[in-house]
Amino acid sequence: ERRVTVPDFAAWKQQGRKIAVITAYDYPTARLLDAAGVDCLLVGDSMGTTVQGRDTTLSVTLPQIIYHSEMVARGTKRALVVADLPFLSYHVSPRQAIRSAGRVMKGTGCQAVKLEGGRRMAATIRAVVDAEIPVMAHLGLTPQSIRRLGSYKVQREEDALREDARAVFEAGAFAVVLECIPARLAAAISSEIPIPTIGIGAGAGCDGQVLVLHDMFGLLSDGFRPRFARRYAELGEQMKQAAAEYVRDVRGGAFPTEDESFR
Ligand code: KIV
Ligand code: NA
Repeated sequence: ERRVTVPDFAAWKQQGRKIAVITAYDYPTARLLDAAGVDCLLVGDSMGTTVQGRDTTLSVTLPQIIYHSEMVARGTKRALVVADLPFLSYHVSPRQAIRSAGRVMKGTGCQAVKLEGGRRMAATIRAVVDAEIPVMAHLGLTPQSIRRLGSYKVQREEDALREDARAVFEAGAFAVVLECIPARLAAAISSEIPIPTIGIGAGAGCDGQVLVLHDMFGLLSDGFRPRFARRYAELGEQMKQAAAEYVRDVRGGAFPTEDESFR
């Protein structure tokens, strides 16, 4: 089976075939998700919270994104791999964005980058796309804006979001993530622009969906649980139980057995 390409995204929207995206941060997980048929793996700067245990995504660096993207790309045969550009790796200027995106593309084997922002990032998106690097845009609740927004909440500025969506499409983005916006607005945007919308907390009217790995598999079970983050498994609970069983076995002498030892 051949690898998913950027043009496939446009074709799938035309066909009404929904796009399934999950975040990934390492090789074994990427292999599992790829084998399961996930269309696109996003190496999200959500790694700041999911992998690094921080409160926000702001501290994630470009070398960290490159490190994780490289492992994720190596674990895939079919999925399109998209890497997030971290906070302040593209805000200074379009030139800075091209350099950052270029380091990701040359260093990792991923196929595209994602960056946050609408009209104010249009010139930057255009510059990166003109450098032959496909861009996925990201609108609505943009976590890199957390210090301005103050908290993670649903974004409801309808006219601004519609204009931003139009702007990122016109700037050349091949897809756009819509995070935490009302379902009706996301559906309207999805019908207004010809590139696929990938929703998270944006309802069923989007052209695809994305979930954060740790949310959907219950890997951070003590953490905040947004209503859109459907739990597909309780792997965190399973890992905890397995680890506790191992501890019991070691302490009680039940592990290892003779079969698990060399004679
Ligand atoms: O960093 C991330 O995981 C993301 C998705 C939630 C879209 O940007
Ligand atoms: Na992100």
